[in-house]
Amino acid sequence: MKAALYRAADKPIQVEDVELGSVEPNEVLVDLEACGVCHSDLHVMHMLPQAPVPIILGHEAAGVVKEVGGAVSKVQPGDHVIIAFYGACGHCFYCVKGMRQLCCNRDIPARQVDGERPRITANGMPVMQGVGVGGWAHQVLLPESSIIKIRNDAPLDKVSLIGCGVMTGVGAAIHTAKVEAGSDVAVIGCGGVGLNIIQGARLAGANRIIAVDLLPNKLEMAREFGATHCVNGKDGDPVEQVKAIAPTLDYAFEAIGLGATVQQAFAMIRPGGTAVVVGVGFGKTAEIPLGDFLQEKKLIGSIYGSGQVHVDIPRLVDLYMEGKLALDPLISQVRPLSEVNEALRAMEAGEVARTLLSMKA
Ligand SMILES: NC(=O)c1ccc[n+]([C@@H]2O[C@H](COP(=O)([O-])OP(=O)(O)OC[C@H]3O[C@@H](n4cnc5c(N)ncnc54)[C@H](O)[C@@H]3O)[C@@H](O)[C@H]2O)c1
Ligand SMILES: [Zn+2]
Ligand SMILES: [Zn+2]
Repeated sequence: MKAALYRAADKPIQVEDVELGSVEPNEVLVDLEACGVCHSDLHVMHMLPQAPVPIILGHEAAGVVKEVGGAVSKVQPGDHVIIAFYGACGHCFYCVKGMRQLCCNRDIPARQVDGERPRITANGMPVMQGVGVGGWAHQVLLPESSIIKIRNDAPLDKVSLIGCGVMTGVGAAIHTAKVEAGSDVAVIGCGGVGLNIIQGARLAGANRIIAVDLLPNKLEMAREFGATHCVNGKDGDPVEQVKAIAPTLDYAFEAIGLGATVQQAFAMIRPGGTAVVVGVGFGKTAEIPLGDFLQEKKLIGSIYGSGQVHVDIPRLVDLYMEGKLALDPLISQVRPLSEVNEALRAMEAGEVARTLLSMKA
């Protein structure tokens, strides 16, 4: 099968032939339709001291089940599925407590090769599956716990984006922060994730939704997803600009992964308000004035939108099919898998909300 392999920082990603192991009893083989390009893929490439290579990145994927192992009970060949971006064991402290997103047996940033039996190889060498998926490929071979069955009348290419950016963003608003109807919300960083925090706040019935970015095209997109106000950080201090619009801001979300913007999020909320860090900032730090905690300000993290994906992902698909969740405007470009390097460049340049890599193109 064909997969896009990242081998080294100074080499473009290339589509190569790889070999899959035979399907183990708990595994599912999926023919992928499409996979998005998320900033976390770039983090794995750039920010880890040493990315585990060779690796197939991409973790926003959907497709059709081709084959299942003997112990698999929840899906069968022909089922339409979205891939959850890491497996969860189902029996650790966190899984049993209903906090699957914190499973302590999950495999971030890469699904580890299985000792003697690597699941994927290229010329006999083991290949890692990025963020527990490896979705920039024509097929994925994963444990059943990562496979979410969805209705079969939803367009697989579009709903693939639910696999990360949508679940992460909408979930951060609805599950992590539990945004209250009528409240005021700011979202710093309006990429694929931030735009979905904005629409999560809209779905939750927020009043003012203030989008903050440095790029006018991103602020335009934010309006389409439900932002009521836009702030360009280049026009002056974003904290002062947001406070002028919402003096008692209830929630601020950081969706970039920078210390400076985490500080901004914490500074702009009211006493008792909540700042949520969604951006990934491996190795970065933020300075937080400890005196602000006497105002009962809260600073919290969010992973995968605090989602219980087997329930939440099919629900998000339903919301899309009912016209209540925007996915189409997230797709700025559709490209064949072979153009993944161009998709990464466009994301870094801030040109796109999301690029969808189509396995059919
Ligand atoms: N917590 C999670 O579970 C989770 C899941 C997925 C992605 N992420 C992380 O979320 C972050 C965003 O991902 P994405 O795919 O939306 O990225 P993206 O590159 O599509 O979007 C980032 C946006 O931030 C804007 N930006 C950059 N610097 C800024 C600044 N100083 N002030 C205001 N805006 C600024 C950019 O213009 C861009 O619009 C990444 O760090 C990613 O790794 C986290
Ligand atoms: Zn992602
Ligand atoms: Zn677990």
